Amino acid sequence: MKVSVILAAGEGTRMKSKKPKVLHEILGRPMLFYVLNSCKHSQVEKNLVVVGHNKEKVRKAFEDEKDVEFIEQPIGDNVPYGTGYAVMNALDKIEDDDTVIILNGDTPIISNSTISCFLRYHEERNNDITVLSADMKDPTNYGRIVRDENANVVAIVEEKDASEKQKLIREINSGIFAFKGSSLKSALTKIDTNNAANELYITDTLEILVNEGKRVDSFKLRDTREILGVNSRYELSIAAEILQKKINKEYMINGVGIIDPKSTYIEYGATIERDVMIYPGTRIDRKSIIKEGAEIYSSTIKNSTIGEDVLIRSSEIEDSTIGRGTTVGPYAHLRPNSHVGENCKIGNFVEVKNSNVGDGSKMSHLAYIGDADVGSGVNIGCGVVFVNYDGRDKFRAKVGDNAFIGSNANLVAPIEVEDYGYVAAGSTITKKVLKGQLSLERAPQKNIDGWVERKGFIK
Ligand code: UD1
Ligand code: CA
Repeated sequence: MKVSVILAAGEGTRMKSKKPKVLHEILGRPMLFYVLNSCKHSQVEKNLVVVGHNKEKVRKAFEDEKDVEFIEQPIGDNVPYGTGYAVMNALDKIEDDDTVIILNGDTPIISNSTISCFLRYHEERNNDITVLSADMKDPTNYGRIVRDENANVVAIVEEKDASEKQKLIREINSGIFAFKGSSLKSALTKIDTNNAANELYITDTLEILVNEGKRVDSFKLRDTREILGVNSRYELSIAAEILQKKINKEYMINGVGIIDPKSTYIEYGATIERDVMIYPGTRIDRKSIIKEGAEIYSSTIKNSTIGEDVLIRSSEIEDSTIGRGTTVGPYAHLRPNSHVGENCKIGNFVEVKNSNVGDGSKMSHLAYIGDADVGSGVNIGCGVVFVNYDGRDKFRAKVGDNAFIGSNANLVAPIEVEDYGYVAAGSTITKKVLKGQLSLERAPQKNIDGWVERKGFIK
């Protein structure tokens, strides 16, 4: 069986954060998610994640994740520490004839295709250990790959333990290894803490296997970006940029137009159909679905379904659905549980919350529609407020098909305006308006002749 062991028990001191390192997010997902996801999409059949520091938080963040087994690494003054020790804790779950791939939870860009090629290479050559390496422009802080005069890999030296000469080596250890289960088990019994960090290093197994005459090999990656290890928030930002580019590219190849990929943040997992156009400054989360032909300008879409040919400008849409051909914004806010039908108009500074809006209804400017069921073909004028809250409880309003709510009206819920009910501008409506009625609630207008002149205001 092919088993992954993903190391996620470290504290991540260099992040200078209360949050465990592997939970720091890139595009809405913890770093660890990406490593795990790439394993799941490769030939790996079983995934083991080693947790220790903040283990409850890490487990919780992945509680919905299937096909993952968490392994606990004891943490404390009386137990060892280090990547070698982390792996030791997983050995019970590994058979001698397994192929084991070890990855660091802080290497989020690694792709499933690289994992697959790497495992294939390792197995085809019948290696005992294969290390995934790369030539880095700046190898600082990585373990260096030491080769002998025949260019065979003979050891991995950590930066802390490296001589000045070894520090010049640019080929680094990605932290990703493939092992024969039996070789991993036997080599791990022989590592010790005789190093600058006083830790049990997984990297030491390589030299041990070399000395035993085992098949030791390396697999060098050209694209060094894939193995970027994230230790600080700065490196997190670099990893985020690379992943953003990669995710956006995938959507573009599938027919989504992205005008400025740098300022477009799409979470892995979002469903975006062909011919969707995404303009600068847009964020789309992983739970959103954007259908063919929709155009999104500098907007944030969270957990929402956007219908075909919808146009959204500078707006925020959360936990909502929008039907085909509807236009939204600029500066509209669809709050949770809003369901807007087809060919509607939700205009400037309109807020909709927990409401249903039927097909073809229009609210073009400055309105609040909260806790309402609005029919189709309804016109809601400028400044209309659905008064849904009495300071203690929320109430619903119902507006029938083809109703007309004049500008600046208040509909005090619970309230109903039946089909073809008309509400005059400026009215505060507290009683049901029946089908076809005009409801007018205003003090009669009084015009006083000569008043301004009498006051002496006219010069
Ligand atoms: C490690 C490698 C280094 C490699 C680099 C690649 C070792 C000794 N060094 O260094 O050669 O170039 O990764 O990015 O392996 N972890 C545990 N338990 C522990 C300690 C660490 O699970 O007791 C986990 C961490 O959570 C992390 C991973 O192992 O995900 C790597 O640990 P880290 O401290 O970041 O190692 P590096 O110094 O980056
Ligand atoms: Ca690291």
